[in-house]
Amino acid sequence: MSTPSSATQTPHLIRKKVIAGNWKMNKTAAEGVTLTKELLDEIGRETSVDVVICPPFTALASVGQALEGQAVKLGAQNMHPEKNGAFTGEISAEMLRTLYVTHVILGHSERRQYFGETDALVNKKVLAALANELRPSLCVGETLAEREGGKTLDVVRTQTEVALAGVKPEQLTSVIIAYEPVWAIGTGKVATTAQAQEVHAFIRSLLVSLYGAALAAKVRILYGGSMKPANAPELLAQPDIDGGLIGGASLESRSFVELVKAAKAAM
Ligand code: 13P
Repeated sequence: MSTPSSATQTPHLIRKKVIAGNWKMNKTAAEGVTLTKELLDEIGRETSVDVVICPPFTALASVGQALEGQAVKLGAQNMHPEKNGAFTGEISAEMLRTLYVTHVILGHSERRQYFGETDALVNKKVLAALANELRPSLCVGETLAEREGGKTLDVVRTQTEVALAGVKPEQLTSVIIAYEPVWAIGTGKVATTAQAQEVHAFIRSLLVSLYGAALAAKVRILYGGSMKPANAPELLAQPDIDGGLIGGASLESRSFVELVKAAKAAM
């Protein structure tokens, strides 16, 4: 009988689950604080799951204040790779750090699709985030046409390998990877658990080839795309699905709290 690899052996002991809310372009600062307070009432002391909320830039300061002294972490949705300069409309890692931001979503498919972000740009952002002690949540995932064309694993391989170029082994466990099939985002079409687990295991195998099994076993790989309380338990029970990056269901406290509880139950 073969011995299970360290990547599949008791993953919950190696990797704490993460539930991250990507609010996208929703919530004013005041609305964000209201939602945050509702979340804190229920999960403010939750430490068995890493909980991150990612409001728009304009709500970071006030939501950050509401989070002071709490276990829930603050994330941004994007960042410019340069330190400062003539980049109208952009925000640097240092600016985020001064707002007590600890995490940043990078390479989201909406950034790639609507704002022309390339793998090379995402790589610069990942390196800049790490240099500033921000934890990148690197998003990868295929479009429907790519899946139907049998290109899913090739696309995910290129996105992952290019984005991680130059990331040092000692930085790797600060990186969270989010597999978000583009066709499942905001569509209500969730990937089947088998489809998601296949890609998650593939991403982990890429990490094994780039960094070795011991480090690869420590990286959290989240699923994103129409994750809801109803489908989360099955997804979160998969050996390589270490949490969720949640869009729609993070905008309402009840569903987000239920997702955090589902992650806790899956540990
Ligand atoms: P939905 O959960 O709304 O499908 O969005 C997923 C997502 O894009 C999170 O980053």
